Amino acid sequence: MLFTSADALEKDPGSPLKGKILATLFYEPSTRTRLSFESAMLRLGGSVIATENAKEASSAVKGETLEDTIRVVSSYADVVVLRHSEIGTAERAARVSSVPLINAGDGAGQHPTQALLDLYTIKRERGSIDGTRIMMMGDLKHGRTVRSLSYLLAKYEGIEIDFVSQGELGIGSDIKEYLQHNGVSFQEHESFENVLASVDVVYQARIQKERFSSVEEYEKYTGRYILTAANTEIMKPGAVIMHPLPRLDEIATDLDDLPRAAYFRQAKYGVLARMALLKYICS
Ligand code: NCD
Repeated sequence: MLFTSADALEKDPGSPLKGKILATLFYEPSTRTRLSFESAMLRLGGSVIATENAKEASSAVKGETLEDTIRVVSSYADVVVLRHSEIGTAERAARVSSVPLINAGDGAGQHPTQALLDLYTIKRERGSIDGTRIMMMGDLKHGRTVRSLSYLLAKYEGIEIDFVSQGELGIGSDIKEYLQHNGVSFQEHESFENVLASVDVVYQARIQKERFSSVEEYEKYTGRYILTAANTEIMKPGAVIMHPLPRLDEIATDLDDLPRAAYFRQAKYGVLARMALLKYICS
């Protein structure tokens, strides 16, 4: 339903949220998530109030609790979008918010609206989500987008997931249990070379530097999973490469102009998916 609405909003957004206010409260850095939410609200005729660097520029500096901040901000807006570095903050905030609260990333926890736009991208790029074989590669332990996408994929039929990671960076046991419980077929691998030719979607996930205890620890995991125009030639016709962005070196820039490079289109679809979500929640 949201995806049909996103398609319709691309053609004619109208002004369904005129008079409504979105508050974005970001305690962690963001480019796409915050700006695409704000763009989505403005495109729907609504308005935005924002604290882009809430860690330093909100009363958190004075020692105010997240709960108190949310109680107040939710009385200023019709919907609140929150990003925070700690797992579970969105849930804590939602308990005290007087308006709908959207989790825009809670540390290494979840990033549900990214998963929504990722699914919308698969639908737009491939026509259907059912029957997709997807490889997710990189930092699957801290990559909240991979975690949320795994949950949402389990709602579709015939999904196969290949998780590719090194050492400690494997997908969490909570996700594996969820997939097992929901009958989703998945495998874990250490290298991508043997899997690449069989999948419909490659989902690259950045090694999340900010979640490691030291630079040395982080550097142990860099440089292994790099996609280039040459090593992706074996991909199936019509198979696509996705990435929530920002990318570092895990996708070489020589891939950018190939039709299978879907990551910038994915970022663009993010506005439409978030427009559909905001319209659903606020009208
Ligand atoms: C992701 C995030 O913040 O979790 N980015 C995004 O929202 N587009 C992925 C990342 O930071 O690697």
